[in-house]
Amino acid sequence: MKTTLAAVVILLLIGTSWVSAQMSRGNPKIGQGVYEQQCLRCHGSKLDGNGPDSEDLIVRPANLQSRITRSKTDWELLVAISNGVLFSPMHGFRGKLTDEQILDVLSYIRAMSPPDIVS
Ligand code: HEC
Repeated sequence: MKTTLAAVVILLLIGTSWVSAQMSRGNPKIGQGVYEQQCLRCHGSKLDGNGPDSEDLIVRPANLQSRITRSKTDWELLVAISNGVLFSPMHGFRGKLTDEQILDVLSYIRAMSPPDIVS
């Protein structure tokens, strides 16, 4: 009886952490739509920073495929997307997009340009 209870508790713990991990991950499919509407004109369809508007900017949009961006943490990228990048045309999207949409667009970026794990 005790072992069954312990097994149930363990399963519940694993289950809930899995669900919360999934929830905080965002939906790359929805993120793609957000990206195409809000980000593509600067960062480009290949996420390489060569969007149609990039030519006119003083500070070129970040190449989201670059090793530099790929080795940044989710948190660093979320801060850039939410708050913007100082002294650059990259303005913050907090208020313009919901937190959910920001997570979605981040998961799209991560899907297109997988994180570079620095060991
Ligand atoms: C008006 C053009 C423009 C738009 C629109 C734009 N960005 Fe940017 N983005 C930039 C520029 C410029 C930088 C800064 C490049 C630098 O600092 O060298 C930047 C930087 C970033 C970075 C930081 C990269 C790093 O390595 O630190 C992320 C992440 C990013 N943008 C994501 C997005 C997302 C997601 C969207 C849409 C929701 C978006 N951007 C919309 C121009 C833009």
